[in-house]
Amino acid sequence: MKHYITTADWKQSELQEMLDLAQEFKQGLDDESLKNKSVALLFFNPSLRTRTSFEIGTWQMGGHAIVLEPGKNAWPIEFELGSVMDQQAEEHAIEAAKVLSRYCDLICIRAFPKFENWNEDRQDKVIKTFAKYASVPVINMETITHPCQELAHMQAIQEKLATQGKGGTKNKKYLLTWTYHPKPLNTAVANSSLLISSKFGMDVTLLCPNENYLLDERYMNLAKQNVEQYGGSFQVTHNIEEAYQDADVVYAKSWGALPFFGYWEPEKPMRDQYKHFIVNEEKMALTNNGIFSHCLPLRRNVKATDGVMDADYCFAIDEAENRLHVQKAIMKKLINQ
Ligand code: CP
Repeated sequence: MKHYITTADWKQSELQEMLDLAQEFKQGLDDESLKNKSVALLFFNPSLRTRTSFEIGTWQMGGHAIVLEPGKNAWPIEFELGSVMDQQAEEHAIEAAKVLSRYCDLICIRAFPKFENWNEDRQDKVIKTFAKYASVPVINMETITHPCQELAHMQAIQEKLATQGKGGTKNKKYLLTWTYHPKPLNTAVANSSLLISSKFGMDVTLLCPNENYLLDERYMNLAKQNVEQYGGSFQVTHNIEEAYQDADVVYAKSWGALPFFGYWEPEKPMRDQYKHFIVNEEKMALTNNGIFSHCLPLRRNVKATDGVMDADYCFAIDEAENRLHVQKAIMKKLINQ
């Protein structure tokens, strides 16, 4: 039984199959793969797009989704194996995963890092524990990667490049730019951006303020491995003009510097120096008629200007729509395996 926890577990051809299926859903495919089936949506963190698109997608495929928020409308859950549960948690993930598997046909989980210790968070224990003890497929709704966002992003890129007459993704210049945010955010979407762009043969540039903002070596290395397997290239730069020059796709995300995980006070004055990483019209003018997106939510005029967000080249809303289509494709694929 295969889960959908990271796209690193899936070949490019398998992901393209799901993208093709997502395109069929977008064009109106009526499919009842979830008829008389139920989907558990476990949210340890807030959401607008993910919750709405999973609930509606499940309903459109004839199924029923139930939203659980551990610690709010469901019992707080413990994940450490062997722990003495004398703190807040009322039940262990072992029982939660096994019980939900008796009721539900899919289990979807959103569990962000705790932002205290990256060496702990990078182990992705919450979703891995569920996957270990569940007897149904598990889908990642964002932990330390965001693989549903990845597919929605890639579906939109393929659509937009085709509309522009630029063809496919191979060797198109893809820029992932760090942007300022007043708070240190999750690296999940940035990790995912590297994974999916490199898996589809793009020439990937990671732009970040300095080496403190490099992403986890696991994802940097996976991007390099993808380049070897699927073509394209991968480079890191701290030079804004060089990064934007001739880019076909610009993707923006803010994240906290990994070396400062758990003691963010000294990171803030450093991060505050880089507000000029905002995506604006002047930077976009350097691109090769480039298109722009962000996973959303986005703070306007902090991460990207109104001018960029309202421009025709911004496809953030199309990408958000695609969440619905790709997740239906993922659920159909996993339920029918
Ligand atoms: N992009 C995304 O996952 O949005 P939500 O956090 O609103 O679900």
